[in-house]
Amino acid sequence: MRSAAPAVPLDVPPPENVQVTLGDVMLWGVLPYVVIAVLVLGSIWRYRYDQFGWTTRSSQLYEARILRIASPLFHFGILAVIAGHFIGLVIPQSWTRDVGISEGLYHAMALGIGLIAGVGTMVGIVLLIYRRRTTGPVFMATTRNDKLMYVVLVAALFAGLATTLISVFDPGITDYRETVSPWFRSIFIFQPDIAAMTAASLSFKIHTLWGLALFAIWPFTRLVHAFTAPLQYLFRPYIVYRSRGKRGAPGAVPPRRGWAPVGTPDRDRKGVPPQ
Ligand code: HEM
Repeated sequence: MRSAAPAVPLDVPPPENVQVTLGDVMLWGVLPYVVIAVLVLGSIWRYRYDQFGWTTRSSQLYEARILRIASPLFHFGILAVIAGHFIGLVIPQSWTRDVGISEGLYHAMALGIGLIAGVGTMVGIVLLIYRRRTTGPVFMATTRNDKLMYVVLVAALFAGLATTLISVFDPGITDYRETVSPWFRSIFIFQPDIAAMTAASLSFKIHTLWGLALFAIWPFTRLVHAFTAPLQYLFRPYIVYRSRGKRGAPGAVPPRRGWAPVGTPDRDRKGVPPQ
């Protein structure tokens, strides 16, 4: 993103003259906490009352060809986007400056890597939605809840990419590391820097609101699978099939590489030898 930083950039420079309205207080001082509460309490509720529904509801059985390309593209893309957000929002400007990374270099790297990650994620999700729409049984298995989730997810991605592109071409845009990032960090110390976010350019605000909307619906969608431990979940087959029985039992076959059961109560139960 193009930097509009002053000669000596500051970490938290909300201009004293920023006009903070009641709307700003609601959006940037109250809404984030409402969203966090919904995300945390909603996830606990979902885990307690809908453990069998805690799943991606895989459709691999119906279609695997597009899924094989689109799913890794989306998932590895979004992991890179999350890593980029962590660096951009959590790590203060002064830290990267102290280790010798200039603002110009930082933004050039963020732009290059961010765009590749963002475009990869977007292509992945577009392919996944195309597959869902054009594969009869997959479309039949798509709920209204899924559709809402896809709309919000794509809107957040689209607004993120748009904001990055706008910052390349619009010299008047604020530096998010001096507005959005200090606000983001301030939420977690319960002193929301509303003025910093109020000073941010509109494109950042729109993107952030879509991001918050996604977090608010997260616990009630299939996105909950992202919170699933163990991490082997990332590398397991889309659908976990029941094994045929203990090793050595008639008809039992050793699991193929990558298909060994992970974290299942059966496997972990005392006295049950690993399959
Ligand atoms: C409160 C939540 C969020 C905040 C404060 C935030 C903030 C930002 C900022 C400041 C940028 C600009 C980065 C730059 O220009 O280099 C950005 C870009 C982007 N954001 Fe977000 N974001 C949030 C949530 C999300 C979510 C939930 C998604 C995805 C579903 C997302 C996807 C993207 C994408 C794809 C870009 C484009 C560049 C990249 O790939 O990093 N953001 N975001």
